[in-house]
Amino acid sequence: MSEKEMEVSESQIAVHWQEEDYYYPSEEFIAQANVTDKSIYDRFSLENFPDCFTEYADLLDWDEKWHTILDTSDAPLWKWFVGGKLNVSYNCIDRHLAKNKNKTALHFVPDSEDERIQHITYQELYTRVNEVAAVLRDFCGLKAGDRVTLHLPMTAELPITMLACARLGIIHSVVFGGFSPSACADRAVDSQSRVLFTIDGYYRGGRWIDHKKNADEAYEISRKEGHEIEKILVWERHSGEYKSSSPLKENRDYSMNEVLKNYRRVKVDPVSMPAEAPLFLMYTSGTTGKPKGCQHSTGGYLSYAAGTSKYIQDIHPEDVYWCMADIGWITGHSYIVYGPLSICASSVVYEGIPNYPDAGRCWRIAEELDINIFHTAPTVIRALRKIGPDEPAKYNYNFKHMTTVGEPIEPAVWKWYYETIGKGKAVIVDTWWQTETGGFLCTTLPGISPMKPGSAGPGAPGIHPFVLDEDGKEIMPGEGKAGNICIKNPWPGAFQTVWGNRERYIESYYGQYCKDRNSKDWRDWPYLAGDAAVVASDGYFRILGRIDDVINVSGHRLGTKEIESAALNVQELAEAAVVPVAHEVKGKEPDLYVSLKPGFEASDDLAKRVSEQVCNDIGKIARPRKVWIVPDMPKTRSGKIMRRVLGAISNFGDVGNVMTLANPEIVDEIKKMVQGDDDVTPVT
Ligand code: WT7
Repeated sequence: MSEKEMEVSESQIAVHWQEEDYYYPSEEFIAQANVTDKSIYDRFSLENFPDCFTEYADLLDWDEKWHTILDTSDAPLWKWFVGGKLNVSYNCIDRHLAKNKNKTALHFVPDSEDERIQHITYQELYTRVNEVAAVLRDFCGLKAGDRVTLHLPMTAELPITMLACARLGIIHSVVFGGFSPSACADRAVDSQSRVLFTIDGYYRGGRWIDHKKNADEAYEISRKEGHEIEKILVWERHSGEYKSSSPLKENRDYSMNEVLKNYRRVKVDPVSMPAEAPLFLMYTSGTTGKPKGCQHSTGGYLSYAAGTSKYIQDIHPEDVYWCMADIGWITGHSYIVYGPLSICASSVVYEGIPNYPDAGRCWRIAEELDINIFHTAPTVIRALRKIGPDEPAKYNYNFKHMTTVGEPIEPAVWKWYYETIGKGKAVIVDTWWQTETGGFLCTTLPGISPMKPGSAGPGAPGIHPFVLDEDGKEIMPGEGKAGNICIKNPWPGAFQTVWGNRERYIESYYGQYCKDRNSKDWRDWPYLAGDAAVVASDGYFRILGRIDDVINVSGHRLGTKEIESAALNVQELAEAAVVPVAHEVKGKEPDLYVSLKPGFEASDDLAKRVSEQVCNDIGKIARPRKVWIVPDMPKTRSGKIMRRVLGAISNFGDVGNVMTLANPEIVDEIKKMVQGDDDVTPVT
């Protein structure tokens, strides 16, 4: 590499990708959309910041109005709607009763099709949340500001318990049900939760999963870490029929079914909370080290969840809305529970998995409930495309609106989502955001903006993203260079801090680009999201993946997603994952792992065609070192492909602990394929 080339910083290097054509929302969609007036972008311009966000706050009922919209005195710990008071459970339930008490708030769809769907009305939700709040207050002695850990799967008891906490200002920390006891314990310890909620068990893919034993283990691990959980409250999947093999321990474990008998029809007044009081913690992994407890606020968070649910999810009173995420992640918090319920929607809670008992399950649910808004992740779309490409056409459902979230979506997969699941009628919003951000950051407005496959779109109203190079210089739209996507301004949905770790909050998200740490001006504190992105001349952002997902081949920056996306243009492929392999001259080379749709066989010829496709779409620079056709990808229980594991295999490194994967057995199979059967001993 010449010296001149060396001077070029990483984010200056061109990204090779093709612009896709626009798709336009239908007249029919626009005619009913909640927002069709383009002036919304003017209302939410930086000139009108921060006042613009009162438009979202005004969607809520406040007990006391705020005196300061944005307080920056403790920058970058932003405070929104200061002086305002409200209660989240009141806003999600009580205020809807006068007109909508008979409306379904939650449709609980059990794993088994033999168990009927439960339709929980707002009135019933009100009764149940009040009773649980009474248990929290009177049986557990909890009060506003205390933390409670909820290690619960996707049953109605999860949102009910969350809303009961919110009724009292208790800070909930939901741990994804599929997480291990030690993950649960770490979070309970970090948040110092005295109370842990669990359930005897639940169903997933036709299997009964005994869950209570996880709480027993989490309790022991917490104790070893010096934290005593005082009470474990145990829901029952079938109320009154305790089914776990692990017994209730006296004076520690309590059956909710029994405890609730003493609190029938008890009402608990919602506690009026300051807008700035924490509502919940949601732990997320950082680049290294222990998970960060992202602390979300009451007033700002709910305002942002409500506003984006109304304008971007386009939820109307008559809609049936299904977000097939897990409430154990931020998507479920914001877009199954808080956003939809705050605007009086009917929201689906699905216990099961997309492919059980077969690939038509989602579409039968959509047909039965007459769902018209659907929200899922690319990983699910790819899986459904792989296992049931012809299923959607067999069912009579009608989506008007679909969301994709969580990772970049390859244009080929986007188009299949649009044509086959959306039947060529539903709009798609590709929503880019993070656990930290509370709600959407980049997305199109469905009734206004055209869609562009593979692009998340412009900033959401009031969100002003830009792309910076390593030195903090802005990369302008259309320059065709990748850099770090940052947000210029604070917004109400943003997390307040990392629980108990102010330094980590400031360093991780503001450390790189803040020029003056003493500044109280928000303009000096761009938010670093940790993703690489390119902004096209139309202002649409294409997210390339985490900063550490970018592969630098001979000084050329290649998004792993770009290569995967190119590979997926080969018809036979279902999934693709690229990992960097160390190369002594090029620095890094991409190794490409792919899995096939059913009915196709692996062959050298196919591998060659995949490799050629990548070269054709991106350039020879992106030629994979090798195309590995694998039977399946190693995946987390939430369905994300574990590129880290593939990377370790490709680099003959340590795959680490893979037992928490959904399919740990695949790791050895891939290892044999890539590394051969022989033990590899490092040359000394
Ligand atoms: C990371 C955040 C968003 C809530 C669920 C995941 C990636 C998220 C998109 C998208 C491309 C996306 C980013 C981000 N990501 N949405 N639409 N297009 N990438 O939350 O676990 O905190 O993950 O997911 O890399 O930083 P999370």
